[in-house]
Amino acid sequence: MAYYRSVGEVPPKRHTQHRRPDGGLYYEELMGEEGFTSDSSLLYHRAIPSAIADASVWEVPDQSIAANHPLKPRHLKLHELFADNEWKAVDAVTGRRLVLGNGDVRISYVVAGSPSPLYRNALGDECVYIESGTGTVETVFGALTVGAGDYVILPRATTHRWVPGTDEPLRAYCIEANSHIAPAKRYLSRFGQLLEHAPFCERDLCGPVQPLLAEGTDVEVLVKHRGLGGEVAGTRYVYPTHPFDVVGWDGCLYPYVFNISDFEPITGRIHQPPPAHQVFEGEGFVICNFVPRKVDYHPLSIPVPYYHSNVDSDEVMFYCGGNYEARKGSGIGQGSISLHPGGHAHGPQPGAYERSIGIEFFDELAVMVDTFRPLGVGEGGFASEDPGYAWTWAGKAPRS
Ligand SMILES: [Fe+2]
Repeated sequence: MAYYRSVGEVPPKRHTQHRRPDGGLYYEELMGEEGFTSDSSLLYHRAIPSAIADASVWEVPDQSIAANHPLKPRHLKLHELFADNEWKAVDAVTGRRLVLGNGDVRISYVVAGSPSPLYRNALGDECVYIESGTGTVETVFGALTVGAGDYVILPRATTHRWVPGTDEPLRAYCIEANSHIAPAKRYLSRFGQLLEHAPFCERDLCGPVQPLLAEGTDVEVLVKHRGLGGEVAGTRYVYPTHPFDVVGWDGCLYPYVFNISDFEPITGRIHQPPPAHQVFEGEGFVICNFVPRKVDYHPLSIPVPYYHSNVDSDEVMFYCGGNYEARKGSGIGQGSISLHPGGHAHGPQPGAYERSIGIEFFDELAVMVDTFRPLGVGEGGFASEDPGYAWTWAGKAPRS
């Protein structure tokens, strides 16, 4: 995120004295990526940011992943993971249920109505897509207001908490990387500006606008971090004072929000491949979205995708609005995931190919994650699976 931002009070010269009204010093923290050689920000704290008063084990929610074996396309109905009356007691951090994952990225889903504990992810950046609902993400950089269609990008190790609105559940699709998540590299100039051909620009990215100062003592923070074998581990810290004590910060590393409705789709006379729909990328995966758009206008075009075998990737579609044209007749609906793994050719459901001819506009909304290493299935994946999906193209199930 090479887009400079300055919020609150910062001294005119970095690494120099920044004094409180009472004459004492603020404590400068550099939060930087790739060992001082990539994006960073400087934050000025009222208290020493490394002061912890206690550390204990936090048992993270079930992170186990089982192989997709025998290899099958799968349909997961995420709305079935949470009962209608359950959400008010669930928070958007500890309530996440893991549906798919590998060594590069984990995808979970949560329907929340309670404020979360303070939390940070030390394994990698998070991209949390808000399917519906509203809320605030309070962070050490300031607060972000979030709502339906927002991608919330939270850099690795950003201390934050989720505060859902009270009127409706906050439905969040959480993409947790083991790396950084950034706009597709080909959208960026060599100095990091979003280029003219990119489907969004800096004006579409919303960062914190003022510091968020909170008071408190003995404040708990949950930290998700690397285990010895690369697994996800958890630690609960207690801070003597509240970690949201930053009076000002500046730099190019901070959380931000991008709304999917600000993505300007790239369309053509014939079918545009998924890279035309890309938004972000991390190590070992990309994030694309399919938004309402005018579709292919060649006189002989077939607007739904051709059948395709993604020989190098597993493809995960999260259907979050409209009616996805190519999946009609498969049972897939709002809140569904389809997993189409490498080694399996997939494409429109029977009839959709023919029906799409002559259609000029697709009213569909979907977020896609393509991974370059195989995805396994988490407990939330197995708990929400529609077992008949793999056989929907053939129209007949295996003999049992
Ligand atoms: Fe596909």
